[in-house]
Amino acid sequence: PLVNTREMFQKAYDGGYAIGAFNVNNMEIIQGITEAAKELNAPLILQVSAGARKYASHTYLMKLVEAALIETDLPIALHLDHGDSFELCKSCIDGGFSSVMIDGSHYDYEENVALTRKVVEYAHERNVTVEGELGRLAGIEDAVNVSAEDASYTNPAQVQDFVERTGVDSLAIAIGTSHGAYKFKPGQKPQLRFDILEEVSKRLPGFPIVLHGASSVIPEFVEKINKFGGAMPDAIGIPEEMLRQAAKMAVCKINIDSDLRLAMTASIREHFAEHPDHFDPRQYLKPARAAIKDMVAHKINTVLGCAGKA
Ligand code: G3H
Ligand code: 13P
Ligand code: ZN
Ligand code: NA
Repeated sequence: PLVNTREMFQKAYDGGYAIGAFNVNNMEIIQGITEAAKELNAPLILQVSAGARKYASHTYLMKLVEAALIETDLPIALHLDHGDSFELCKSCIDGGFSSVMIDGSHYDYEENVALTRKVVEYAHERNVTVEGELGRLAGIEDAVNVSAEDASYTNPAQVQDFVERTGVDSLAIAIGTSHGAYKFKPGQKPQLRFDILEEVSKRLPGFPIVLHGASSVIPEFVEKINKFGGAMPDAIGIPEEMLRQAAKMAVCKINIDSDLRLAMTASIREHFAEHPDHFDPRQYLKPARAAIKDMVAHKINTVLGCAGKA
């Protein structure tokens, strides 16, 4: 069966590593991710955004993830990514998810507390864990577009009050990561505010922290996409050493979506360029799935440090 995130985060915190939370929306993505985790015996979070749930439908995603549980026998959490309302969180909890995020970060502080508390009460009665968020990430947060100037780092002075009053099981914070493939301007030096992470973890000893917008935008994929007809100039992500550092600290969950998209797209673009006569989806989806598997294995080994921890 699915597991919630409580035990995996406890172990990750104590062990100085992080769990990968990978966004899923179709069979090949789920297979690529779970095959890598199985080979490396890694605990895993599969997460579904509101958009992904709309795209594939709740039932298809549930059944695909159930298939992955049967095939891998791993501790897997199925998590709602960026839930924006109580109703959406409730629907996912009632429908079998083991973990949800309620993202009230775009509300004012008291509204965020009240909404998050309401979700926690509903979720905990059903053994579902809840992730909250404080602070706003630059870039695109689902439908909400936060401009770089509006982005604000998490205020460490608020975290203890927020966690105590809401009862959340983990907290997403803003320390300089952002969603999507364009995290820094060309020429800008990628930076994360490790001082804020330190300060947050001092105020919340033993408490699991989550990093959103944590793709590295792996340069090899960007180059391949651009080489084979794509146009993604200046796509830049978070350097892997920085993520590894965060994983050794209080960060227990690292969210990765863009690197999956890039791995899949680079592989398919290359395939079509080299085989213009192919038109059977299996011909290009098989290597795309393998590219996702390789990328996830690389993350588990190099960034997350969670190999062998299942
Ligand atoms: O945080 C955003 C995730 O990458 C999901 O993106 O809303 O396009 O599915 P999406
Ligand atoms: P990336 O766009 O950096 O992969 O972030 C994904 C994410 O945070 C999903 O919630
Ligand atoms: Zn996110
Ligand atoms: Na950690």
